[in-house]
Amino acid sequence: MAKIYSASTTAPVNIATLKYWGKRDTKLNLPTNSSISVTLSQDDLRTFTTAAASEAFTKDTLWLNGTEESVTGARTSACLAELRALRKSLEDADPSLPPLSTYKLHIVSENNFPTAAGLASSAAGFAALVRAIADLYELPQSAEELSRIARQGSGSACRSLFGGYVAWEMGEKEDGSDSRAVQIATETDWPDMRAAILVVSAKKKETSSTTGMQTTAKTSPLFKHRVEVVVPERFKVMSKSILDKDFETFGQLTMADSNQFHAVCLDSSPPVFYMNDVSRNVISLIEKVNNLAGRVVAAYTFDAGPNAVLYYLEKDEPIVLGLLKAALPDLDGWQNKATVSAAVPDGVSEDM
Ligand code: DP6
Repeated sequence: MAKIYSASTTAPVNIATLKYWGKRDTKLNLPTNSSISVTLSQDDLRTFTTAAASEAFTKDTLWLNGTEESVTGARTSACLAELRALRKSLEDADPSLPPLSTYKLHIVSENNFPTAAGLASSAAGFAALVRAIADLYELPQSAEELSRIARQGSGSACRSLFGGYVAWEMGEKEDGSDSRAVQIATETDWPDMRAAILVVSAKKKETSSTTGMQTTAKTSPLFKHRVEVVVPERFKVMSKSILDKDFETFGQLTMADSNQFHAVCLDSSPPVFYMNDVSRNVISLIEKVNNLAGRVVAAYTFDAGPNAVLYYLEKDEPIVLGLLKAALPDLDGWQNKATVSAAVPDGVSEDM
């Protein structure tokens, strides 16, 4: 029987505090602005992926949550091609290595997110896929180098290769070689950061991120101001606030950036809506709580959907969760408390 080589890994989700929204190159997923995120660790928020290669496999196959998915799409194909090319160069240098680059792949990927949450699934998914295959191929590439590959699967996935506080530097080169994720700080540098994931709606979003951001980039007059003036300044100040553990500044900017991201969505033609009335209630409540406290107790952020992620410091957890739970008892997800995650663990390669 032909030998099967395999490697498994898990990848966490990341939730942006300075949003990626807009591509300057849709094929390479090169963004129009740099972004910042926090990688979250929570038992119910990760993708588990196993990649296997064997001479006996007849075609590349991907099973996502038990359903066979296409591997011929541009995004997955781009990741597989890059990883195979890196493996091939190892095999060329050392002919005693098994020729895994010529074998077909079987990839099994499971998300254990509450399906209702619809949170950052492509980010964790592509990060896990790239890491599992890189481990299977025993590639020496760093997380930063792998992030350039994951980026081609889904832009935000490049940030899930790192734990802690992560920047995706947009880069300048046309080939995307300098558009990759770097770590700003580790999870232990600012360990008392917490997040709560509030499930506002289980419905699938009507406009995908990919489509929504293209509409905005093409049609929103505010968008140009955002990417040229607002984000570059915010990127510097937010990075510094993380290094200084300055929650006041970090929280203010996180909320302001979520609001501006949704503002450029509304400024698009046709307008793109992601938040609903419950989302807006969460915003009003947090603003009130912060106002009453005279400081930023919690910061909200919303991605391309109505679900809220709140960032706060551990010491404020009783206030944040207590008050909000009392005000919004029907929201799901009060139990979805997350801490800041470590990096994607290296998977274990094994031969069978
Ligand atoms: C609002 O990374 O899902 O979550 O690159 O087209 O796959 P593609 O888009 P994706 O967009 C994420 C958008 C966002 C903001 C962010 O995560 O930075």
